[in-house]
Order: sequence, then C-alpha cells, then structure tokens
Amino acid sequence: MQVNPQLICVMDSPPSPSETGGIDKETAMQRLEWSPLLETGVAEMDASHRSLLQAIHATIDADDSSLSIRIAELLNILALDFAEEEALMDQLYYPTDHEHRAAHRRALAALQHALPVAQENPAGARILLERLPRWFLGHLSAMDLPLAVAVENTSHPHSQPSRAKLRQQLSQLLQEQRSI
Ligand SMILES: [Fe+2]
Ligand SMILES: [Fe+2]
Repeated sequence: MQVNPQLICVMDSPPSPSETGGIDKETAMQRLEWSPLLETGVAEMDASHRSLLQAIHATIDADDSSLSIRIAELLNILALDFAEEEALMDQLYYPTDHEHRAAHRRALAALQHALPVAQENPAGARILLERLPRWFLGHLSAMDLPLAVAVENTSHPHSQPSRAKLRQQLSQLLQEQRSI
C-alpha cells in the first residue's frame, strides 16, 4: 500500500513552487527542537504544541512494530490541538477560521491515511511522517501565530509590545522556513 502523493502534499505548508509532490532531502526536515521562537504566547496553544512536537518525534523515531501505535497517539494529540484552536476561533470573530479549519481537516486526513499504510508499508508511511516537522513549522507560522495574535488582542487590546513580538517571530519563522 502506497501513500497517496496528494496527501503527502498536504504536509507541505506552504508548498514551494519547485515541489511537485515528491519527497526529497530538501523537503523532509526530520527534527525541529522546541525553542522560545515557537511560542505563540497563548499558554494552552504552547502546551499543546510542545506535546505535538514530542509526539511527532516519537513517531518518526518509532520502529516498524510500534509505528501504527505512535501514529494513533499522534492523531489524538493533533486532534486535541486542533479542537482547542477551533474552540478559540469559536470564541472570537475570526475572519480566516474556514481556511484554518480546512488546513486542520487536511492534516488529519493525511495522517489517518498513513495509519493503515504503516502496517503494510512502514517505509511508505515514513515518507509522510518525515514531513511533519516542516508541516508543523509552516502551519504554526501561517495559521497558529495569527490566531494567537487575535487571542492576544481580544484579551489585552492595548498590548502592542506583545503583538510586535509575535509579528517578529512570524517573520523569523518564515525566513527560517525559506532557508530549510
Ligand atoms: Fe496548532
Ligand atoms: Fe492550527
């Protein structure tokens, strides 16, 4: 059983023009260590993202016999992170919530697809899994940080320094992503 290339593309966020859906060493990023640069400033999002990054690495590092169990655990953690963010969007008047929710659905679908693949063809499933750190960084910079800014603005409407800090982080993340 092979991983559907269209689902692999879901894990490229945002896709670069040179990527055609295949996997190569430039597009796979195996490890992304937690750093203050990844913090959104929203405590519950940051706690979920730390767990998510740990689960991503545990899945990538898993041997073939435990790969399916790790993917199932990762799916639960991912679904929880998404549900928390969507609850935050529900509380806000959040203009790009449809895009953000759609990105969550696509990521969950891709990982759900990898679950049966992992049993029959672990190497095939790993093609997708190795893209997860890069997907996480792309999703964080493009969607989660702007959501965090909206949460921050609602809670503390006059906290300009914090907003500026988030914008600065966003710009650094985007630069980092371009250099990967
Ligand atoms: Fe998130
Ligand atoms: Fe998100």
